[in-house]
Amino acid sequence: MCGIVGYIGKRDVAPLLLEGLARLEYRGYDSAGMVITSPKAAGLKMVKAKGRVRDLEAKVPKRFTGTTGIAHTRWATHGAPSDINSHPHLDPENKVAVVHNGIVDNAQELRAKLEADGVVFASETDTEVITHLIARSQAETLEEKVREALKVIEGTYGIAVMHADFNDRIVVARNGSPVILGIGEKEMLVASDVAALIAHTRQVVTLDDGEMATLKADDFRTYTTSGASTTATPETVEWEAASYDMGGHDTFMHKEISEQPDAVDRVLRGRIDDRFSTVHLGGLNLDPREARTIRRIKILGCGTSYHAGLIGAGLIESMARIPADAEPASEFRYRNPVVDPDTLYIAVSQSGETYDVLAAVQELKRKGARVLGVVNVVGSAIAREADGGVYVHAGPEVCVVSTKCFTNTVTAFALLALHLGRIRDLSVTDGKRIIEGLRKLPSQIEEILKTEDEIKKIAAEYAGAQSMMFIGRVRGYPVALEASLKLKEISYIHAEAYPASELKHGPLALIEPALPTVAIVPDDDLLEKNRAALEEIKARSGRILAVAHQPQAKADHTIVVPKNEDELDPILMGIPLQLLAYHTALAMGRDIDKPRNLAKSVTVE
Ligand code: F6R
Repeated sequence: MCGIVGYIGKRDVAPLLLEGLARLEYRGYDSAGMVITSPKAAGLKMVKAKGRVRDLEAKVPKRFTGTTGIAHTRWATHGAPSDINSHPHLDPENKVAVVHNGIVDNAQELRAKLEADGVVFASETDTEVITHLIARSQAETLEEKVREALKVIEGTYGIAVMHADFNDRIVVARNGSPVILGIGEKEMLVASDVAALIAHTRQVVTLDDGEMATLKADDFRTYTTSGASTTATPETVEWEAASYDMGGHDTFMHKEISEQPDAVDRVLRGRIDDRFSTVHLGGLNLDPREARTIRRIKILGCGTSYHAGLIGAGLIESMARIPADAEPASEFRYRNPVVDPDTLYIAVSQSGETYDVLAAVQELKRKGARVLGVVNVVGSAIAREADGGVYVHAGPEVCVVSTKCFTNTVTAFALLALHLGRIRDLSVTDGKRIIEGLRKLPSQIEEILKTEDEIKKIAAEYAGAQSMMFIGRVRGYPVALEASLKLKEISYIHAEAYPASELKHGPLALIEPALPTVAIVPDDDLLEKNRAALEEIKARSGRILAVAHQPQAKADHTIVVPKNEDELDPILMGIPLQLLAYHTALAMGRDIDKPRNLAKSVTVE
């Protein structure tokens, strides 16, 4: 959600910032802007534009050159998308430029005070108060000016600041919104996401909350917001720069769906222990004796990650026989939950930055709970805040809607469930059975991907629907929830998911030929029950698309997927429905990688 990139060095900065912004566009795409300067330049030069990064590029004036700059791509929170509200925000004297991710909670109050002092605001944003506070500070150094401003700010921020009188540096600060420094050869970069750095350097330093940094062309230092020096330990980013390119696909979503066999292979790699029919999860930080004392597991996540958590809870209950459930982190944190010492909490997040999840983790930790993370982005805030966890190793996910990360997260939950199960009462035979099932997943996903042409044809038939229903029972219900979310996010077709068992309790009233139903019908102990639901829908002239292990007589179409172990079937059954959402949206001409009103990584409440 919103992206920041900054550079100080010797290179021509504007094209470099534009390229960085393009890589960050998935985090926000309603406006963009940049400010640049160079050691010999007098003052700051700015360009901003409502719309996409390409709209900004079109507005960059001739001779817009410099070697230091900060840039931003925005997802509006305070103030509508417009040229004026886009970042950077400058003070009236054009001395101070600020780009900001996050939300200043006391912006109204600070704005009122500044206005009473005669400050005239140019925009409606909360960020502009930061600019004025820095510009009005009487402190001698830029670092002190920024520190003074941050003292009165409540809320979250990742900021980068430039000042015309201190044009040999960029000052950055973090509180709740990621700031990553990129260390180059006689150049330094900063960004809110490694995506914008990786083409230039793999050596990074991730700031902690409450940390600041001063970047110069050949040097950087980190310190706290109260001025105490901190030690910055550079880490090497393992993700490939090519992961941020489309690699011959038309969209990132298509690329990421196609990558799933490899991605699942990666989450399994090096973790299976055939000797004891279990898996090793090095970062779990949970010894077997402790694992035996867990009385409940509570999984917290948002959106697709919450859906993965629902499947995860089912996997843990069935394999480890520990009562488990999942709840949206955004709800959990506001209901003053009872935090039980025998409950293990698991935070799920692709980005590791989702604010509601992070806030839930912080609240749980404050209350003394043990929290594990199931996270994709290594070193992200949630990963660092958690007591241990499992990385899902899906690689970077650029499309705003999650696909490969969902599949990998569910697979990571299967590993965790197997691990806990084998510490508790899951037999060696069942352990072996699950391991065999896990090993089959990558090739079975390949098989599903080969049915894309067939799914595309089916999608063409459903593309005109006003609304769609998704149903599933027990293991199939979270699959239905996730599939309906995927469809609505990228096609904007209204879609709802219900437990198939609930049909008679209300939703059946909706059934008519114009409302197609997608039904998850695995060959498991509930097959006949699921078939009964199809009968009920057909009896009311409803159209049915089944995702099943064998053709379903009552369905108008069946997408047949390969059978795995009952527990692991949900991992496979979601994949054709990603393709269904994709091709439906494509047939409707939607902007698949950048659906309206959405952005990747929701780092605000
Ligand atoms: C949907 C989607 C979102 C995210 C949610 C949580 O396709 O991607 O629902 O799953 O915003 O994000 P993470 O997993 O980064 O915490």
